Amino acid sequence: MEVIIKSDAQTGSIAAARVVARLVREKPNAVLGLATGSTPLTLYKELIRLHREDGLDFSAVTTFNLDEYIGLEKEHPQSYYTFMWENLFSQINIQPEKVHLPDGMTQDVPASCAVYEREIINAGGIDLQVLGIGSDGHIGFNEPTSSFASRTRIKTLTQQTVADNARFFDGDEAKVPHHCITMGIGTIMDARMNLMLAFGTGKAEAIAATIEGPVASMMPASILQHHPAAKVFIDEAAASALKLFDYYRWVYDGKPDWQKDA
Ligand code: F6R
Repeated sequence: MEVIIKSDAQTGSIAAARVVARLVREKPNAVLGLATGSTPLTLYKELIRLHREDGLDFSAVTTFNLDEYIGLEKEHPQSYYTFMWENLFSQINIQPEKVHLPDGMTQDVPASCAVYEREIINAGGIDLQVLGIGSDGHIGFNEPTSSFASRTRIKTLTQQTVADNARFFDGDEAKVPHHCITMGIGTIMDARMNLMLAFGTGKAEAIAATIEGPVASMMPASILQHHPAAKVFIDEAAASALKLFDYYRWVYDGKPDWQKDA
């Protein structure tokens, strides 16, 4: 795992955006895996800026989102479909037919999940997957004890995740759906690169366990230790519980510029 500690969320997100932008320039038909939530918002803002000011071209890019709540219409203000169109897709030149999110309103969840997996394969697999991390260590909505071999499927959110996400639902936990469709950990591990972002002290324990703890299904993100190309962009607050904090800094600072964005 490559650990990149930046002073704050802004500089961390811009550094992560450079990696995404480099891939899209080198491979215009790249397949991106995307996340929702608070964490990637600044990354998406930077991608929009690069599109507007530097001509970063998304016209041939395909995207697959990690997850979607079950029972929310696409048009629901808190659906991840709405989130992605509001915060990224409507502001770049992506082709709507190249955008994919799990269907939270499907009447046949297993069949719909199988189709999603097939669509990822048919697109050539995910080149770069953007990930946040839950305070309980989830990636996508793969909560603790999720199988490392899991594929896209229905999951039940933990009470912790329901409480964490209530801030998007007027602070009302009763409004947060308890079920979702999420890519599995196996699906995420198949991405050629995984790019995780985490900011703030609320993520410090999960980040320390992910990077320096044992690989365990109780900390789903720890499986990234087995991924051949996983980068973790964190701010100093999220890095505050890392034992090797100084070492990660020293490694990154000593790299040539071309390697920092690769
Ligand atoms: C979102 C997702 C989740 C979030 C995680 C962190 O698509 O898959 O794993 O990345 O819950 O959420 P924030 O960024 O809101 O702290």
